[in-house]
Amino acid sequence: MVSVPEPWRLKEKPGREVEAVVFDAYGTLLDVHSAVARHADRLGEMADDFSREWRVKQLEYSWVRSLTGPSRHQDFWACTVDALRFVCARHGVTNESFMAELLDAYRLLSPYPEVPAMLRAIRAKGAQAAVLSNGSPMMLADAFGQAGLSTQIDALLSVEAVGVFKPDRRVYALAERRLGLPAARMMFVSANPWDTQAALAAGFRCVRVNRTDAPDEYGLAAAGVPSLPDLAGLPELLH
Ligand code: LAC
Repeated sequence: MVSVPEPWRLKEKPGREVEAVVFDAYGTLLDVHSAVARHADRLGEMADDFSREWRVKQLEYSWVRSLTGPSRHQDFWACTVDALRFVCARHGVTNESFMAELLDAYRLLSPYPEVPAMLRAIRAKGAQAAVLSNGSPMMLADAFGQAGLSTQIDALLSVEAVGVFKPDRRVYALAERRLGLPAARMMFVSANPWDTQAALAAGFRCVRVNRTDAPDEYGLAAAGVPSLPDLAGLPELLH
């Protein structure tokens, strides 16, 4: 097994003395495939590929814009719209009003079913619940507001406050600044391993959500990052 250099290896159990749980939004609390799922009948058998490609392009655009520099920054909504246009063109979807419907659905993505009870349980244990996301403030307010979760979340933090996307180090530092806690007192929870590895490098306790039983990446398992099949078991990790 490849040995993991410090400081990537967790020194303490992930849940000990955690004062805030910081969640990724897209793919972790919100089901990014729920927008296409609502219109799957109109896309037929290409629906799953279409949805996956939309997500991959959205992330690609966010990373390329971050690496190119501040003059090329556009918010995550712009990345989402550009990615949809690309995927529609690739699959021969030309109906503008259908694209608008898909975008409306993306604004109101469904949370995973266990999310409301899980948020209540971690707050009942005395931890704050926060979201740290690439999503623009408008996207986050719409999705969590529509899902009725705004009152269960202590802070909705958008990367727009720092003008660069994950996994830039400044994004994770934003959570420390806004929540007034060092990373070591917070648990970061993501279903995106590339996001988890960055939070780990920034000093957070981390938990990976792995709904599809995907292989380990970035040495997360060797670094001691627990992996959960969904979020239902997360409160048990808090002591
Ligand atoms: C987010 C992206 C990574 O919510 O899905 O930040």
